This record gives sequence, structure tokens and C-alpha cells, in this order.
Amino acid sequence: MSDLIVAWYPWIKALHVIAVVAWMAGLLYLPRLFVYHCSAQPGSELSETLKAMERRLLRAIMNPAMGAVWIFGLALLWVQDWSQGWLHGKLALVVALTWLHHRMARWRKDFAADRNTRPAKFYRIANEIPTLLLIAIVILVIVKPF
Ligand code: HEM
Repeated sequence: MSDLIVAWYPWIKALHVIAVVAWMAGLLYLPRLFVYHCSAQPGSELSETLKAMERRLLRAIMNPAMGAVWIFGLALLWVQDWSQGWLHGKLALVVALTWLHHRMARWRKDFAADRNTRPAKFYRIANEIPTLLLIAIVILVIVKPF
């Protein structure tokens, strides 16, 4: 198993980063749709259109991309020295990003059922969290500061 991963390491890392880009695109766009959705009347044409966009973004892009990030990431992890500090820091932040993904899925269900009670400001703040996590994760994995 390790020999196979080492032989294909650059390809696995490339697929890992491609999946990261797709996942991050969704994590940054979905809260933005929620901000617009807060000003749409339940049952209106705009609200129904946003429901379809949110559902497709989550199910067709974010869920598969998150799965691919984890599968290729764990394959890369398999051949790493696990005592490296940057790796511990990165995994902690990635777990936080995954938790946020699941919160967004919960918020999407609330909009789909016309039972959202959070204000647009809440989703504007939520929109910043993936950006901050991305910056910290990329610095940890490329600079490896500790
Ligand atoms: C889901 C769990 C994840 C695991 C287990 C994981 C693990 C890894 C490992 C072991 C490497 C190889 C490091 C190297 O060869 O130097 C790597 C590369 C990388 N990871 Fe992840 N990762 C995960 C998620 C993420 C996420 C969420 C991001 C960004 C938001 C990310 C961004 C990157 C980048 C940019 C690289 C390439 C680094 C380089 O070429 O030096 N990873 N990842």
C-alpha cells in the first residue's frame, strides 16, 4: 500500500488540491446564497430558485469534493511522519472546516423548510470563517512552520 502511494504521490497530491479548490468554492459560495435567501419571501420564486441552487451546490459539488479531499488527504497522510507539528495543526483546522460544512448542510435544510430564523448578518460572518481556515491550512501545509 505505501509503495503504491509513494509511486503515485504527485498525482494523489494534485487530485487532493483539485478537490480542495472545489470544496472551498462551495464553502465560500453557499453562505453567500444564504445571505440573499434571508431577503427572499418564503414561497416566492426567488426563494424556490435559491433552494434549488443551494441543494445542487451542496449535493453535486460540496459533498463529493469533501469526500475526495478526505480520501486523497488520508492517502497522503498514510506515508507521512505523523509526529510533524504542522500536520496536527492542519488536521485540527480541517476537522473544524468539516464541522462547518455539516452546519451549512443543517442551515440549508432550514431554508428548504422555510424555517430559517437567523439574520443575513449571521451568514455574512459565517462566510468569513472558511477563508480564515483556508489561509491557516495552506500556510501550515506549504510553509510547515513547526
Ligand atoms: C481532509 C483531510 C486532509 C488531510 C488528511 C490532508 C493531508 C495532506 C498531506 C499529508 C499533504 C502532503 C503534504 C506534503 O507532501 O508536503 C497535503 C497536501 C496539501 N493539502 Fe491537505 N489534507 C487535508 C485537507 C486539506 C484541506 C481542507 C486543504 C485546504 C483547505 C488542504 C490543502 C493542501 C495543500 C495546498 C497541499 C499541497 C501542499 C504542497 O504541495 O506542499 N488539505 N495534505
